[in-house]
Amino acid sequence: MDFLYKISLLLHSWNRWAILIFGIAVIVFAIKGLNSGSKYNNTSRKSMFYFILSLHLQLLVGLLLYFVLSPVTSAALNDFGAAMKDGTLRYWAVEHAFVNILAIAVAQTGSIIVRKRTNDRDKHRLALIWTIIAMVLIIAMIPMGMMGVERPWFRF
Ligand code: HEM
Repeated sequence: MDFLYKISLLLHSWNRWAILIFGIAVIVFAIKGLNSGSKYNNTSRKSMFYFILSLHLQLLVGLLLYFVLSPVTSAALNDFGAAMKDGTLRYWAVEHAFVNILAIAVAQTGSIIVRKRTNDRDKHRLALIWTIIAMVLIIAMIPMGMMGVERPWFRF
C-alpha cells in the first residue's frame, strides 16, 4: 500500500506539469488562431484532447489518493470536524479536491462546447475563455505555498 501511495503521489505530482503544458498550449493556439483568423485545425484539437486527457488522469489518481491511499485525507475523513479547524487538513480534504474537480468540469464543458461549434473563430474564442478559467482555478490550487501549503515542484 505504501508503494502504491508513493507511485500515485509521484504520478499525480508529475502529471501536473503535463496539465500545465497542454493548458498553456491550448491558450497559445487559441490566441494565435484568433489573431491570424486561421482554422481550428488538428494542432488545436490535439492540444485540447491531451489537456482533457491529462486532467482525467489527474482526477482518477486524485480520487484514488483521496479515498484510499493518502494518510493525509484519511486523517481528515476520520474526524472531519477537527480537520476543518486545521488549515492544512482542510486544504487537502476540501479546497484542493473540490476546486480541482470544478476546474476539470469547466475544462470538460469548454471542450464539448468547442467541439459543437462550427465557426472557427467561435471555437478559438471559446477554447480560450473556458481554458483560462480552468487554468486559473488549477494554478490557484497547486500547493506552491499560496494557500499556505507547499509541496515539492519536482518529486523524486
Ligand atoms: C488539475 C487538477 C489537480 C492538480 C494540478 C493537482 C496537483 C497536486 C499536487 C501538485 C499535489 C502534491 C503532490 C506532491 O506532494 O508531490 C497534489 C496532492 C494531492 N492531490 Fe491533487 N491535483 C489535482 C486534482 C486533484 C483531485 C481532483 C483530487 C481529489 C479528488 C486530488 C487529491 C490530492 C490529494 C489527496 C493529494 C495529497 C496526497 C498526500 O499528500 O497524501 N487532486 N495534487
